[in-house]
Amino acid sequence: MNTFSFYNPVRIHFGQDTIKNLATEVPKYGKNVLIVYGGGSIKKNGVYDAVVEQLQSIDATIFELGGVEPNPRVSTARKGIEICKAENIDLVLAVGGGSVIDCSKLIVAGAKTEADAWDIVTKKEMPQSALPLAVVLTISATASEMNSGSVITNWETKEKYGWGSPHVFPKFSILDPTYTYSVPQNQVVNGVVDTMTHIFEQYFHNATNTPLTDEMAEGILRTLIEVAPKAFADPTNYEHRETLMLAGTLGLNGFLALGSRGDWATHNIEHAVSAYYDIPHAAGLAILFPNWMRHNVHVDPQRFVKVATKVFGITTEGKKEEEVALEGIEALSTFWTSIGAPSRLANFDITDEKFESIIDHTLVNGPFGNFAKLQREDVEAILKASL
Ligand code: NZQ
Ligand code: ZN
Repeated sequence: MNTFSFYNPVRIHFGQDTIKNLATEVPKYGKNVLIVYGGGSIKKNGVYDAVVEQLQSIDATIFELGGVEPNPRVSTARKGIEICKAENIDLVLAVGGGSVIDCSKLIVAGAKTEADAWDIVTKKEMPQSALPLAVVLTISATASEMNSGSVITNWETKEKYGWGSPHVFPKFSILDPTYTYSVPQNQVVNGVVDTMTHIFEQYFHNATNTPLTDEMAEGILRTLIEVAPKAFADPTNYEHRETLMLAGTLGLNGFLALGSRGDWATHNIEHAVSAYYDIPHAAGLAILFPNWMRHNVHVDPQRFVKVATKVFGITTEGKKEEEVALEGIEALSTFWTSIGAPSRLANFDITDEKFESIIDHTLVNGPFGNFAKLQREDVEAILKASL
């Protein structure tokens, strides 16, 4: 293992009706609450009403910023920052998925500085503090509810970057699996693919001797493969939804990266693709990740064999190492296709027209990836294989 320091201060309230905790948690931070939400799903499924009921019970003064886009934009975060400054906001309450939470993270950091929000995303400005942030999660996917990362798009300049700061960890996050019953099936699929890819990104790392985190990762992957199809077949089954929700959070709250540094190249390429084409994050991952695997199987075939045998139960008898490794990659592809995830950029009418710009975007900080260092020609090969 690598040496490490670990810090994660997020309190999780998990389970049905844990929304009630708002009434005891919110007063710790103040009265003026800015609710941030997306395109309106929370107004249809009752989550907005449940939140407002709790806030009214403690006489909070409620402000609102709706309309956060999937792949949230810096322009929307700027609107939230203005509200925070003008209205003396004490707490920002993100009610939604990764997009709403990530946008809110930029709002709480931007509210404490005169610098422009985009300078925070591009790391020209390092946040020195932030307003308190809390979360009511409505979709299982990113683990943004229990980490300090955020991914923001600048649509004008066609850039999408991740940034993070310990100041933007949520103070607490409310995870009620019943709030995810209304998530459309294609978005549930996206959540499963995103969670699985987070686990894989960390599994393909730069350290040795990681048997414990390996087992944790393999266990979550096996569980998702078993439970996801059951959740699709029975969307209001509480037990399946709670399993997906916990898996999403554990997928990227830092536990799986204790003692190692994950690869993360596929996320970098996906962010570049969706900066140009605004496709769902997980759809991009489903297309790109199997091709990243095929491109890098030679780097450490044993690692891929472990995926094949321990996650997909593939047998090794009478087979060459590389054959087993490739069978594992095909098993992953087949699973994702079976649950309805896309497998080609062509599914979104994406051609090679903008590949040069996309590759430039991925290489903005030079060659990247901690399991396999990708150069220009590697990114191009992965993109071409994904057409
Ligand atoms: O906007 P509304 O109307 O709420 O609809 C959303 C949105 O259209 C809908 N939805 C969410 N909860 C729902 C629901 N619909 C019905 N019922 C509910 N209960 O789902 C759609 C997608 O929501 P979004 O928040 O975009 O999904 P997700 O959680 O997958 O977040 C994706 C964003 O997170 C970033 C991605 O790049 C992308 O921008 N990521 C953030 C990470 C992080 N902070 O750690 C890591 C990830 O790798 C990822 O990059
Ligand atoms: Zn992701």
